[in-house]
Amino acid sequence: MITLGIESSCDETSVAILRDTTVIKNGIYSQTEHSQFGGVVPEIASRAHLEKIDHLTETVFAETDIKIKDIDLISVTDSPGLAGALLVGVSFALGLHTTLNKPITGINHLEGHIFSVLLENPDLSFPFLALVVSGGHTAIYTVHDTGKYELLGQTVDDAAGEAFDKVGKMLGFTYPAGRSIELEASMVQNEKSITFPVARISSNNLNFSFSGLKTAVKYFIKDKNVQFINENRSRICFAFQKAVIDSLSNNLASAVKSTKIRRIALVGGVACNQSLRDALQKRFGTDIRFPSPQLCTDNAAMIALAGYNRYRKKQLRFPTMNPSAPL
Ligand code: KG4
Ligand code: ZN
Repeated sequence: MITLGIESSCDETSVAILRDTTVIKNGIYSQTEHSQFGGVVPEIASRAHLEKIDHLTETVFAETDIKIKDIDLISVTDSPGLAGALLVGVSFALGLHTTLNKPITGINHLEGHIFSVLLENPDLSFPFLALVVSGGHTAIYTVHDTGKYELLGQTVDDAAGEAFDKVGKMLGFTYPAGRSIELEASMVQNEKSITFPVARISSNNLNFSFSGLKTAVKYFIKDKNVQFINENRSRICFAFQKAVIDSLSNNLASAVKSTKIRRIALVGGVACNQSLRDALQKRFGTDIRFPSPQLCTDNAAMIALAGYNRYRKKQLRFPTMNPSAPL
């Protein structure tokens, strides 16, 4: 069975082809248009999707022996995300659905991220815990089965990736700043002279908060001169990154304790962070799985796999275009 995946919820335009659960092609265009603005500019994002999606689709098919008429299912991200950006992918998918007369399903972007881990770890069995850490979301779910997700905790303010991007902007990095902070932090081995607080919302829920951490960094650098920042940028990045990792790791440990589920998936753009991977691997051992970095950030292969699984479970749903739908 051939599934065409389409993803355009934020600043990646992506089109993928899956044969059953195997990725044949995963074409991704990461918009660089936002780097100077410190974050994604919605209007620029939708225009960039519109300019790229046709050509990207043609290129993806041209690089395989599969023709567009051969597809059996169209799987498109329809929620949550930027309204204008989602609209481009959903309209494009609906156009193909009408012209080719093939089944279509809408997919929640977070469901896509959860499925990203199964592309390379098909042996990961239900139920498992999924820690979704991206630029727009930070949440822990129990994944009971395809279509059965239980929210255990989520951020009450900024997402972890958003905190990386905002702190990065304060320290002079361009958007997205996660990778730059990680590289800068790797210049120091272990930093104890600077520490930032790890937020714990309450002992009886698994919610996260990252805006206090962001403010702590802001006040720490507020009165410092350029020379101080230049000399201490690596230490600040290390301390910030450590606070994020501790927060994610502590809540995950509580989730394991309360659910007694030991199988864990770390997914979403922030899951590219090697220090985070190492810290979680050390704490949770072989029970934790990560997608490879190109499958952590936004891509259509994960959307196609989620669609394929929904098709097999007879859970297809017509795309609804809901920019704020929860999972
Ligand atoms: O999943 P994703 O591609 O998009 C959303 O759904 O939001 O995640 C993008 C986020 C950005 O905030 C980016 O800074 C962060 O992932 N990110 C990282 C790293 N690579 C990407 N954060 C920390 N360390 C990294 N190596
Ligand atoms: Zn994402």
